[in-house]
Amino acid sequence: MEIVPNARGLGCRVEGIDLAEPLSDAAFEAILRAFADHAVLHFPGQDLSPEAHKAFAARFGSLEVNVAAGRYTVPGHPEIMVLSNIVEDGAPIGLADAGQDWHTDMSYSAVPAFLNVLHAIHVPRRNGAPLGATEFLDMAAAWDALPEAAKARVRGRTATHDFDKFWSRMVAMPGSRREPLTPARRAARPPVSHPIALAHPLSGRTALYCNVGYATRVDGAGEAESAEILALLFAHQVQDRFKSVHRWTEGDVLAWDNLRTMHNAVADYGPDEPRLMRRCQTMADWVLGEGARRFGPAAAPA
Ligand code: SIN
Repeated sequence: MEIVPNARGLGCRVEGIDLAEPLSDAAFEAILRAFADHAVLHFPGQDLSPEAHKAFAARFGSLEVNVAAGRYTVPGHPEIMVLSNIVEDGAPIGLADAGQDWHTDMSYSAVPAFLNVLHAIHVPRRNGAPLGATEFLDMAAAWDALPEAAKARVRGRTATHDFDKFWSRMVAMPGSRREPLTPARRAARPPVSHPIALAHPLSGRTALYCNVGYATRVDGAGEAESAEILALLFAHQVQDRFKSVHRWTEGDVLAWDNLRTMHNAVADYGPDEPRLMRRCQTMADWVLGEGARRFGPAAAPA
């Protein structure tokens, strides 16, 4: 197995491994270390059954069963969501607008998400060029670059994250098929708080964990102060200098660390340009828990 870092800070390509096979302990350790160092791992040329997809993702924590869009799952595999704009017999086969703005997956959950593991089945193309890229922002680099005065304002503080914030934004998008949350679904996802300066459990690096998709207020601050701090953080975190882009090819598996990144699924393709991804989400229960590996600050900044 070879790990080839990307030229631009975030991300690496992992060659010479077949994720359809069970991971050896040595491969697991090397991949975990690559998450600590690079956060976004690209495994090209993979042919994964749903079982193998789940088995890989489940090595790093427990798998989420998505209740928000429960019907868009692989039959018999509720842990695998189908993300797609394909319509068959008048019915969408997947969630068409997943992640189409900057956010961090499941920061609204008391135990947040660690990994997203996406497998590309169909990639839209126009004139041969792939569409529907996924963009990333490096929140460890964003924290490092935050002015000291801003760091001092948020260190030791928490922010509230609310599932309804991103969901409502998606509902308001032209052509959205999403319904506003019912009171019962809203109650099932109460807002939660997380540290704004998050010490990464694998690397020890601090990441800015306060994404524009879900963060709604700085806890303990007055309304005006909270709004001012969030505006500052949101403007800071989306700068191009923290950004990298993954352009997909069929067979790609991309696995990324949500504790260190934000992402955005670029909606630059039309209804007649099919995109089909399968997604597992690994929760941060294991990686934040006592049994997980700690590489510590020695893990080199990517
Ligand atoms: C997601 O936010 O998990 C979806 C990303 C994508 O489809 O590119």
